[in-house]
Amino acid sequence: MHFYTTFIHNVIHRYCGHFFITYKEVKFMLVDGKQYRTIWPNKALSEVTIIDQTYLPFEFKLRPLRSLNEVVEAIKKMRVRGAPLIGVAAAYGMAIALMKNSTDKYLIEAKKLLIQSRPTAVNLAWAVNFVFDKLKKEPIDTRISLAWRLANELADQDVRNNLRIGELGLKLIQKVNKPQINILTHCNAGWLATIDYGTALSPIYKAFREGLNIHVWVDETRPRNQGTSLTAWELNQENIPHTIITDSAGGLLMQRGDVDLVLVGADRISIDGNVCNKIGTYLKALAAKQSKIPFYVAAPTSTIDPNYMGQNNTFDIECRDEDEVLKVKGLDAKNNITEVKIGYSSAYNPAFDITPSNFVGKIICEKGIYNPRDIKKVLK
Ligand code: MRU
Repeated sequence: MHFYTTFIHNVIHRYCGHFFITYKEVKFMLVDGKQYRTIWPNKALSEVTIIDQTYLPFEFKLRPLRSLNEVVEAIKKMRVRGAPLIGVAAAYGMAIALMKNSTDKYLIEAKKLLIQSRPTAVNLAWAVNFVFDKLKKEPIDTRISLAWRLANELADQDVRNNLRIGELGLKLIQKVNKPQINILTHCNAGWLATIDYGTALSPIYKAFREGLNIHVWVDETRPRNQGTSLTAWELNQENIPHTIITDSAGGLLMQRGDVDLVLVGADRISIDGNVCNKIGTYLKALAAKQSKIPFYVAAPTSTIDPNYMGQNNTFDIECRDEDEVLKVKGLDAKNNITEVKIGYSSAYNPAFDITPSNFVGKIICEKGIYNPRDIKKVLK
């Protein structure tokens, strides 16, 4: 069923592009033909529903979040993940928290718990602080409605930003003058990492819609396999040609000329263009530089940290549980999701690394395409 809808969708794109422009722009994030965002509030504005990403690619499951604790748990366990999405989820978390108690004391407590839920992506603290600063000036009895409005606005803004990143990123992809364009991406910076469209995948979706012959190399992204489980799942939903590769294969493919550009997202960018992103990104940037392949980063303004400059990062690089390295999730013979142990040593699991600005070709932001060392201009 899904394959069929995607096929029709692609045929219509290709042959009736102009006629179909509204459909293309508005109804993109389809799962089995139905449009979804990654998070949305109920009509009564009392809870949110998320796509629980811990079940993908095996099951598409929705999950309601009804309390501050449930939102914090969902971020920590990575039921929602990706820098822009955890920011918006945390903003909704503030709204949900206030429904229990709208006092200043509880507002401060909610802010603390949400910001501590994951340390590296700056979008989380940015969104929580944005909502907090507005709420603390608001009288207690109107705080709840304002909090829901602000969270909804952040969600809508994310969608607009990503559409713009898609349009701008397309220009860079179009510069590759080849019959087939091979793009390598790491982790998941697609619509599952945002509210819709994605950051690094947004230009890829846009290019595919414009009829470019795209093929995506998807890094599996150990240990949590966001590439295999999420990016490949997204690309399958849209019928975009792609191939999963091990995290160490990219260097060889670049040497052989099988990669035309690398396009990744970011969790935090310094004002002088250093890029913190999923562990393994730096190695891809090193290989890309050696092979003279463009290395591009796509991220909204909220990923730029005005307090981060040079090598002095004052934030924590998240170090996650060793079990993520020592166990692998999959389906058993009866198609139940199961985990198997693959090692008995201790393991070390840093979740992000930093790519210095001199390895970054361009940063694509909703406000424009920047040389990394000029990215501070975005904040003005
Ligand atoms: O640990 P995750 O899955 O939340 O990490 C996500 C990434 O590193 C993404 O590449 C990054 O957030 C960009 S998301 C648009």
